[in-house]
Amino acid sequence: MKNLYNALQLKQLYTLRLLGYNYSSLAPYKEEEISLQLPQNMQELKKQVNNCHLCELSKYRKNAVFGEGSLEAKIMFVGEAPGETEDSLGRPFVGKSGELLNTMIENVLGLKREDIYITNIVKCRPPKNAEPTPEEANTCLPFLKKQIEIIKPKIIVTLGSVALKYLTTNELQISKVRGSIIKQDDFTIIPTFHPSYLLRNPSAKKEAFEDLKSIKKLYNEITS
Ligand code: URA
Repeated sequence: MKNLYNALQLKQLYTLRLLGYNYSSLAPYKEEEISLQLPQNMQELKKQVNNCHLCELSKYRKNAVFGEGSLEAKIMFVGEAPGETEDSLGRPFVGKSGELLNTMIENVLGLKREDIYITNIVKCRPPKNAEPTPEEANTCLPFLKKQIEIIKPKIIVTLGSVALKYLTTNELQISKVRGSIIKQDDFTIIPTFHPSYLLRNPSAKKEAFEDLKSIKKLYNEITS
């Protein structure tokens, strides 16, 4: 939130400079109370993400990738960051790893993609698909937290180590905790491998299949 506050203050100063001011105390401009709260409404939140310039990644994006799916979803899938196809289309998991994720959701979990919610730790594509820096991830995290607060999923499936790292507090290793149930706040986290890891390491698909079975079991318990 400190970054958001600083960015809003900077914006005010730029506006004043455009108006011809050389010096100003920010105090008089507090009249128009700045809200540091993120909106509780998904459409408003999406607008904020689309207009966000809080980190370097916003400089390189074609589109911010907010996330998509059902606002009633019981399961949320969280990936790392948009890739090239996602950046072009403004939608999460629509490239090669998205195809695999769709298969996992539809063929193994027996769910439709539109019944779940899919998003990422960071909403803009890192250049060359690099791992988001801690600064980028932590700056973007309040958006994800708000998405979770609005949707209230019962199960969050973290895809890969980056989603696991930023959604849990302890330093957990994906190879050790994948498929396990991590109770946190009002939801249960089940970590599994990232689809792009599975594309590079097809032998890990067997373990991912086991994880999906745990997810399905929990989902059936929750919804029955
Ligand atoms: N990889 C991710 O982590 N997220 C996407 O949206 C696409 C690829």
